This record gives sequence, C-alpha cells and structure tokens, in this order.
Amino acid sequence: MKILANDGLAKNAEEHFIDEGIEIETNHFDKEELMKVGGDYDVIVVRSNTKIDKDVAKALKGTKTALVIRAGVGLDNIDINACKDCGIDVDYTPNSSKNAVTELVLGQMLNLSRHLSVADATMKKGQWNKKQYDGFEIAGKTLGIIGFGRIGQSLGEKAIALGLEVIYYDLIKVENDYAKYYEFDDLIKKADYISIHLPSLDEPIIGKKELDNMKESAILINYARGNALDEEELIDALKNNRIRGAAIDVFPNEPKVNEKYFELDNVALTPHIGASTLEAQKNIGNEIINIVDNYFGVKA
Ligand code: MLT
Repeated sequence: MKILANDGLAKNAEEHFIDEGIEIETNHFDKEELMKVGGDYDVIVVRSNTKIDKDVAKALKGTKTALVIRAGVGLDNIDINACKDCGIDVDYTPNSSKNAVTELVLGQMLNLSRHLSVADATMKKGQWNKKQYDGFEIAGKTLGIIGFGRIGQSLGEKAIALGLEVIYYDLIKVENDYAKYYEFDDLIKKADYISIHLPSLDEPIIGKKELDNMKESAILINYARGNALDEEELIDALKNNRIRGAAIDVFPNEPKVNEKYFELDNVALTPHIGASTLEAQKNIGNEIINIVDNYFGVKA
C-alpha cells in the first residue's frame, strides 16, 4: 500500500505507517504531475497547497486512489462532489487545530492592542518610539465571533478567561453559558474585536457596509479563509483609519499577498500558519492514522 503526502506529513503518522509496512512518499507534485502519478497511491494526503479539483479527480478515477485526506479543517481545496462522482472518498481532520488557531488569534489581539510587532520592528531599526505605543487592554472589551463552531467556541472560552465579553453570530444558535448570540449587523456594531471562523464562502461576509458599521476602534481578525472579506475594502478602511487594525492569516490567492498591505502599520500578517504548531500537526497525524486504519481495516 502507498500513501502520497503531497504537502508533508506529521512525523508520528509517517513513523506509524512505515511501521505498518506502508510506503510513504512525501513529495510535492504540482497539478499536472499529480494528474499523472497520483493514481499510483492508495491514499493522497493534502494540506492547503494542493487542490484536488475536477481535473485531478477525473485523472484519479479508476486508479488505485481510494481516499483523499485533507490534513486540516477547510475542505475548500477539494472538489468533494467531483471526487464522489469519480469513486474517491474524502475525509479530513476537523478536531486537531482549534487550540493552535485560538492561541494565534489571541496572540494577534494582544499584538495589535499593544503594537508589539511594530515596536519590535522599529526597535530593530534603532528607534525608541515609546510615546507612539500607548496601547489598550483587552479585558473589559467585547469579542464578536463570526462562526461559532469548534474554533469559534474554543476562542470564546479562552477569551472569557482574559476578561472579555463574548458575543457570537452563527446560522445556528449554540447552547452555551458564556457567549450571547447577536444578529450579524448588531455584532458588527458592538464588538471591539471581530474574529471570523467560517468555512470558505462564495461571497465575502465583510465588505464596505460592515467595515463602515464597525467601531473606529475595532480590530478585525481573519484566520478562516481569504474570501471571507473584501480585501480592497479592508485595505481602504485600514488606510483611512476607519477601523483600528486587522490581523490576517489567509488570502484569496495564496501564496500571493496583496502588496497594498505592506504599506500599512495597522495590519499584522501571517502566512496561513493558524494550524502550524507541533501539537496541532501531531494531533492531525493521529487523526490521519485513525482514518487510514479504519478505512482499510473496514474495507479489507
Ligand atoms: C485548515 O483548514 O485546517 C487550515 O487552513 C490549516 C492549513 O491547512 O494549513
């Protein structure tokens, strides 16, 4: 049996599969190559760098490939229907990265509130700009969470411990004893920090209207998907200080990043590293082990 890990694989999973006598290939094949060689593998594991679109699914049809696993939460880089039509099963690892994403969001809330990354960058240029870096505290402020699933709830629980009031918007009201449901437009107007935790969307949920309705002191955080917000409108709002700041980890055309961000001090950028902790990757490895063992155990 052969597994292709097209965007890498956690060491624990790699070692486990090698122990089981499974052959692991940790190469990165681009789309054309994947269409040619992907069918030599029983399982293909991908992160966000590989797209399993209709063409790839069709190329895998009738080959050895029985299962595609998305090592992560978002399934937007996999055409699930096309895979289904081509007889390929799809699975993913939704339980592993919530803590990693949550800690990073909290880190950026603190960073932007206390100018940490900007102060560090200017210190390293030999500047002592003490007077420019008056910050503000997150305790007592309101965090608005858009999308109250696993990651949204994990963020809410931790934010409460830091003294924030937590409100949320989701299509479904979630029973809980710490976060109050708000209608979307009301959340946008009330929150001091707004963090998006939704799957990939067809249309941005944050555009000009929402940015105009936010407090001038609001900080917007997107660790979900690049298409959750209108980038040009966000850049305009940041440039004109219509909101205080933003932290962005995900972009519509990764790894390309809109260069207009680079001129702005009030945005903190990271290269889609929400799930990139040793612990999250190890958890993902364990989820992948379970998926593969169950799948082939059941099918054998
Ligand atoms: C996910 O969907 O799990 C995240 O975007 C993390 C990733 O793929 O790197």
